[in-house]
Amino acid sequence: MDNLDVPDSWHELANVLVRDPGAVLFLGEPDAGKSTCAFFLAQELAARSLSVAFVDGDIGQAHLGPPATQGLALVNSQVLQLQHLYFVGAITPAGHLLQAAGGIKKLTDRARELKAEIILVNTTGFISGQAATALKLHKVELLSPRHIVALERGDELAGILTALASPPGITIHRLAVSRRVLPRTPEQRRAYRRQRYQDYFSNSGRLEIPQHGPIGIEYAGNAPLLAKNPPAMLGLLVGLNDPEDFALGVGIIRELCEDPATMAVESPLQDLSGVVRCRFGTVAVGPDWEDRPLVS
Ligand SMILES: Nc1ncnc2c1ncn2[C@@H]1O[C@H](COP(=O)(O)OP(=O)(O)OP(=O)(O)O)[C@@H](O)[C@H]1O
Ligand SMILES: [Mg+2]
Repeated sequence: MDNLDVPDSWHELANVLVRDPGAVLFLGEPDAGKSTCAFFLAQELAARSLSVAFVDGDIGQAHLGPPATQGLALVNSQVLQLQHLYFVGAITPAGHLLQAAGGIKKLTDRARELKAEIILVNTTGFISGQAATALKLHKVELLSPRHIVALERGDELAGILTALASPPGITIHRLAVSRRVLPRTPEQRRAYRRQRYQDYFSNSGRLEIPQHGPIGIEYAGNAPLLAKNPPAMLGLLVGLNDPEDFALGVGIIRELCEDPATMAVESPLQDLSGVVRCRFGTVAVGPDWEDRPLVS
């Protein structure tokens, strides 16, 4: 990136990770520089011949897949190569804590199975309030990271870090947010998501999913609402999951057909072979790629 401010603390952290590799969990409020720091370390450590994985838990400003997904990439010759997507189905963890924590655990486990020496785990800026604290603490418990990188302007992570106390086997690195960080407006964040959807769905076709088997339908808690008002399904994002519950692709419900009851889904996934479950999200995407939560 042009104009990238790389503080000495980032170089020192890279040296520590070379000596003491493992999973690294990034924490910080929105616009703290989490993604930027994680990308810097990904490039830096891969250049030093370490096998590096990048797990992106940010479902809003997602880097690897479309919004509402988490992803796992391996860094090869400085390039991120996508391995798996996990469909959370929402663009904020609030109300989707199980999926957010479970997804990041599955992706990190897979990175370990792939023998990544360094696993950089990027998170959302969801840090305020009890639900956010619980989510971050459970992520620490589930992932057992070797390092936590806490990017702070003041002491906004104090609640989470105090609750963690001095976790055995984990080193906490408290770093100051760079003054070069450019906070983004809500409209800039929406524009980023619109572009990610547009790119992801640019080469899509139509898939027809029977509503009653053999592909399982997982309604994400919105079944009663959708049963009362089936047209509310139109535009909803769905995850097209394999037997391990990684998403082979993401789709948008476009049409509900009767006799036989099928859902027509727009997706870049070529066909449904390998898909065993269709997981409903709670976010819908309009024709202008603007997203909106399904109100229950
Ligand atoms: N060290 C830095 N030098 C220059 N620019 C930076 C630096 N860190 C972050 N930025 C810029 O600030 C903006 C926000 O940074 P970044 O996306 O890394 O934050 P984040 O904590 O991941 O935010 P979010 O929680 O929204 O995902 C980006 O435009 C990024 O390019
Ligand atoms: Mg980010």
